[in-house]
Amino acid sequence: MAASHPPHSPHSSLPGAPGAEARTALLKRAARDAIDYLEGVNARPVAPSPEAVAALGALRGPLPPGPTSPEAVLHLLHEYGSPATMAQAGGRYFGYVIGGSVPAALAAAWLVSAWDQNAATFGASAVSVCVEEIALEWVRELLGLPEGTGGAVVTGATMANFTALAAARHALLARAGWDVESDGLFEAPEIRVVVGDEVHPSMVKALGLVGLGRKRVVRVPVDGQGRMRADALPHLDERTILCLQAGNVNTGAFDPAAAICPAARAAGAWIHVDGAFGLWAAASPEYRKWTKGFELADSWATDAHKWPNIGYDCGIALVREPDALRAAMSIRASYLERGEQREPSDYNPELSRRARGVELWAGLRSLGRSGMGEIVERTSSHARRFAAGLKAAGFQVLNEVAINQVLVSFGTPDRTLQTIARLQADGVCWCGSTEWQGHTAMRISVSSWATTTDDVDRSLAAMLRAAEE
Ligand SMILES: Cc1ncc(COP(=O)(O)O)c(C=O)c1O
Repeated sequence: MAASHPPHSPHSSLPGAPGAEARTALLKRAARDAIDYLEGVNARPVAPSPEAVAALGALRGPLPPGPTSPEAVLHLLHEYGSPATMAQAGGRYFGYVIGGSVPAALAAAWLVSAWDQNAATFGASAVSVCVEEIALEWVRELLGLPEGTGGAVVTGATMANFTALAAARHALLARAGWDVESDGLFEAPEIRVVVGDEVHPSMVKALGLVGLGRKRVVRVPVDGQGRMRADALPHLDERTILCLQAGNVNTGAFDPAAAICPAARAAGAWIHVDGAFGLWAAASPEYRKWTKGFELADSWATDAHKWPNIGYDCGIALVREPDALRAAMSIRASYLERGEQREPSDYNPELSRRARGVELWAGLRSLGRSGMGEIVERTSSHARRFAAGLKAAGFQVLNEVAINQVLVSFGTPDRTLQTIARLQADGVCWCGSTEWQGHTAMRISVSSWATTTDDVDRSLAAMLRAAEE
């Protein structure tokens, strides 16, 4: 057995036939550590202590000249790594827009890691490709998007925006007789990009990555919630990419797609939607109203690691005309065998990739349509409970709490920032800060399936205590 070799033996911990029993013991140990971690995650401070972060020094040092036993490696990670995590798997983490991981997705991730598949091609992993395809279709249905829409499972919304924009760039330039994949953008016909003034920075980054420029955009004024003003749109035509947003990262507000999209479509513009979390509101009969009109777009970017709680990392790009995506992403090589089926490497920026579509399938299968809708409804109702409690205590809630996001000011910018710092140090919950249209605010994003009403009440009490001190 590998574990019985002395640690300095050059073969002591290398994988292979002699290690089967040791591997089983190691994986059982890893499962136990993971289960212990999750069982304790709600009882510990949400942010890691400064001491726990400092103790990560134990993982430093030069690469050892020889192997370390896998048990010792796992022990080091659990001993020093676990306490230094942010407890986002628990119910009281409200930073950024970060979901947890529903049990089926987490369990599937373990299995997928054991499978160790390369989801690049059907030939490399039929199971990954088939299961991902089913999951993509479920996502399309849940989001209420047109039949025939194609897609790619990527790492997150930044990459999903990038992927969809590459398809948009292809389609608009192909219509103008330009082959951008072959000839690049030098001397290409001009494309105009229109964004709202509260566009997410990842969208701007993605525009830079596809060569359309981070700054070379027309910014449309927005209202007090960050919604693009339909009355302030510039002229749109068949050389325009119009980027809409479904769910502002601060306020949760949606651009008025129903007012904008019919005319934008008629003008021939390519409409792209950054719906990193907001698009999932379509899964709830109660919240679906916010997503009306976005189905008229040409492409959409979203994240399953946000509201659907599929675990990191999992983003999705969807494109009404899959051929445009395929033209932008396809790859050929003599050694890449291909059949009749959809090859992910023809729709994704990556070739080799993990089979994250399987986790997506597992999470969605376990939730079903009603489960996804319930996450949207429950987290949004928790957000309203936060807002009501903070308002009742005399604090200003800066946004209309339409979905799961709350922005609160505790008074002056200094007082707000001090309150946030005290709250983060206190450890009952975790929220971050933001600037919203000239106001310093604390952001509460209720995105986890694991948050209970008791978590909200305990966190609210901690916020009010932090604001008093
Ligand atoms: C509206 C919006 N777009 C894009 C992103 C970026 O997503 P990711 O971090 O998955 O790349 C976010 C992240 O919060 C977001 O809220």
